[in-house]
Amino acid sequence: MTDLVGRKVSVKVPATSANLGPGFDTLGMALSYYDELEVEAVAGSGAVVEVIGEGAGEVPTDETNLVVRSIAHVFEQVGQKLPGLKIKAHNIIPHGRGMGSSGAAVVSGVVAAQGLLEGVVEFTSAQLLQLATDLEGHPDNVAPSLFGGLTIAWEDEKGPHHKKLIVHRGVSPLELIPNFKMSTAIARALQPESVPHADAVFNVSRSALLVAALTQSPELLMAATEDRLHQDYRSEAMPEAGKVIEIMRKNNHAAVVSGAGPSVLVLASDPAERMEAAQLAAKHFPQWRALVLAVDFKGATVIRNQ
Ligand code: HSE
Repeated sequence: MTDLVGRKVSVKVPATSANLGPGFDTLGMALSYYDELEVEAVAGSGAVVEVIGEGAGEVPTDETNLVVRSIAHVFEQVGQKLPGLKIKAHNIIPHGRGMGSSGAAVVSGVVAAQGLLEGVVEFTSAQLLQLATDLEGHPDNVAPSLFGGLTIAWEDEKGPHHKKLIVHRGVSPLELIPNFKMSTAIARALQPESVPHADAVFNVSRSALLVAALTQSPELLMAATEDRLHQDYRSEAMPEAGKVIEIMRKNNHAAVVSGAGPSVLVLASDPAERMEAAQLAAKHFPQWRALVLAVDFKGATVIRNQ
C-alpha cells in the first residue's frame, strides 16, 4: 500500500443555499463564500484539528470532527488505511444558519481524502456525490458544494445523482443572516407527512419555473420562488425569518428561506435590485448581516502541496 505520510492538501469549499423556495431537498446553489482547510497525513493514527473562525471552541477537534469522519468514511469505502491526520480549518461559513456548513464540512472531508489518495484511487463525480450524501443524508447541499453552480439533485435505487446548470449572469444573490441558529432536525420535524395535492402541483409548477428563471429568465424569479411545501410549516420556529421574507417579497424581491433557515436568500434579478433589497434589509432588520455574494461556478477544489 502507498505510504501517504507527508502528503498535504489544501481544500476550498463553497457555502450553499438549498431548496431556493419550491425546490425542497432538490435544488441548491453554490455561493462565493468559502471554508478553507489544510489537511496533512502524518505518522500514527488519530486526528488533531485546529479550527480558526466559525465553530472554534464548539466543534470537536478529534476523530469525532465531521471533516475527519468524512475523510475516514472515504478511506473505509475504498479499502485504504487511514493515516494520522493534522487539519487546520479556516471557517467562515456560519453554523446553523442554512448556508450548508455541515455539507461543506462533509465535502471538505471527501475532497481532502480524494487529494490525499491522488494516484492511488481515482474517484468519479458520482462516487464523490455518493460518499458525501452517505454522511449528509440528502444531496441538495453537497451537490452544489462539490460541483458549483445551480444543481438539481435526485436519488434512485442506484444512489444520488445531480445535474449542474449555469446560472444566468443577472441573478444576484443576497444572503441575510441573523445572529440566531436553527436546527435542521427541528425544521424537518415541523413538516407534515403528506400535503394537499393542490400544494404538490403548486410546487411542481414553481420549481420547474425556477429552473427557467435562474438559467434564462430572471424576471420570473418572484413567481418562481413561491413555495407551499416547507416554508410555512417551519415558520413558527423562525418567525423573524418569515417577517424578513414578507417585507422583501412585498417589495418585489424574491426572498426565500436559505436551506433549513434561519437565514434568508434574496435572488435579485440584477445587481441594482440587489442593492435596493440590501438597503431595505438594513432599514428594517439592522441586526441581520447582509452578504453580497456571487454564484460559485467551480465547486470544491483540492490542491496537493506535497
Ligand atoms: N433540504 C434541506 C432542508 C436542506 O431544508 O431540510 C438543509 O439540509
